Amino acid sequence: MNHRRLRSPVRAAVVTLSDKASAGLRPDASGPTLVGLLRATGAEVGDPLVIADDQAGIEEVLAGLADGGEFDLVLTTGGTGLAPRDRAPEATLAVAERIVPGVAEAMRSASMRATPHAMLSRAVSVVRRRTLIINMPGSPKACREHFAVIADVLEHAIETVRGEAYECASPAGD
Ligand code: MTE
Repeated sequence: MNHRRLRSPVRAAVVTLSDKASAGLRPDASGPTLVGLLRATGAEVGDPLVIADDQAGIEEVLAGLADGGEFDLVLTTGGTGLAPRDRAPEATLAVAERIVPGVAEAMRSASMRATPHAMLSRAVSVVRRRTLIINMPGSPKACREHFAVIADVLEHAIETVRGEAYECASPAGD
């Protein structure tokens, strides 16, 4: 991702969803991984927010990040699986205004080549106001594999979410 066409760098936030990390019982590994990947693309991103796997709490944080108007992109990590407390997709859908199925489909499909366990991630991608929110699983490896899938389309995604680009086709029609 570069910012040739974007009017300003992507403003991103990373939210780690983990009961244990939020309680200080284990370090957050996947959040810093996503921050590093985003920074390598030129995105502006601070340290990860680390919060518990509590659906209402996740909804509040995601809605707050989107409604504040300061972030084009929010990546969450963790809570996409089948464990009883995994609620990332439910919380994300609860705050969604528009669903972006292709992003999650592409990440899941590509990840199936890395591991059949990829089918166990229920990650979703949505838009709320002018913020694209994308769930990713809770391991650094999974985050790297997911990010590789979306990296090349992020610039155009953000350009369209911001309303900076309305026409996708070139004047030549290709
Ligand atoms: N996707 C990729 N690309 N690489 C992975 O290692 N791990 C899977 C899956 N998706 C994985 C992946 C596993 S083991 C699980 S249980 C689910 O994501 C959900 O992970 P989460 O509960 O940490 O969100």
